[in-house]
Amino acid sequence: MRQVGRLPGAVTVRDDAAGVAASAADWIVEVAGAAIAEGGRFRIALAGGSTPRTLYQVLAAAPHRERMDWRSWEVFFGDERACPPDDPASNCRMAREALLDLVSIRPELIHRMEAERADLNAAAAKYSSILASTCPAASPGSAPRLDCVLLGLGENGHTASLFPGDPALQVRDRWAVRSRADYAPFDRITVTYPVLNAAAHVAFLVTGAAKGEALRGVVDGRVPAAGVRPPDGELRWFLDAAAAGSR
Ligand code: 6PG
Repeated sequence: MRQVGRLPGAVTVRDDAAGVAASAADWIVEVAGAAIAEGGRFRIALAGGSTPRTLYQVLAAAPHRERMDWRSWEVFFGDERACPPDDPASNCRMAREALLDLVSIRPELIHRMEAERADLNAAAAKYSSILASTCPAASPGSAPRLDCVLLGLGENGHTASLFPGDPALQVRDRWAVRSRADYAPFDRITVTYPVLNAAAHVAFLVTGAAKGEALRGVVDGRVPAAGVRPPDGELRWFLDAAAAGSR
């Protein structure tokens, strides 16, 4: 299998998905602890899809559970599918089942994208305002700076709900917009590149050989995930051997 090549940022390769989740969980403990020590709050945007579920389960269990100051967590989402929050396709439902309903994060500090609304543009604008009013920014009017953003990678190189060819890829003056996926649920809300690239720490979690071509697309700059390059932040990749092409 072809090697992935040189990804931008630090790369951790583990044997399997469980190892990826364990390494990412250890990293989140460190990032969260530093953010809380510095400013009393840890602002994190969670990834959707299936890969992060294992990570969230690890965080909600011993020993990581006891190593976290959950009351200082403030939770956002990188994207959401246009469905009710209790729909099996909902990223928020997945995060609640695997983590949020199992630890003592203050409910008022969990910010769900209201992607079930008929007017997705209004829901996205509301989420932009929530990000702007709860997160610091490098300068007035610039993108909200999250402490941590977790991301997955689709086989076509999308991340969050930034899909190839979508107008959302061009947005620089809004923090969340509606977008369209190439698989159901098609309609989405997604954070935009300015938010991803303003973050202090960004980590991709990528497992499975099927993601190898998408990772090569990142290396070659051919896919949406290649646009995530935080100039004043850490970029990390947590891969299993199958995705990294080393197995
Ligand atoms: C979504 C996700 C999406 C996901 C990738 C990878 O709502 O679908 O935000 O960007 O991270 O499609 O998904 P898997 O982890 O399930 O492979």
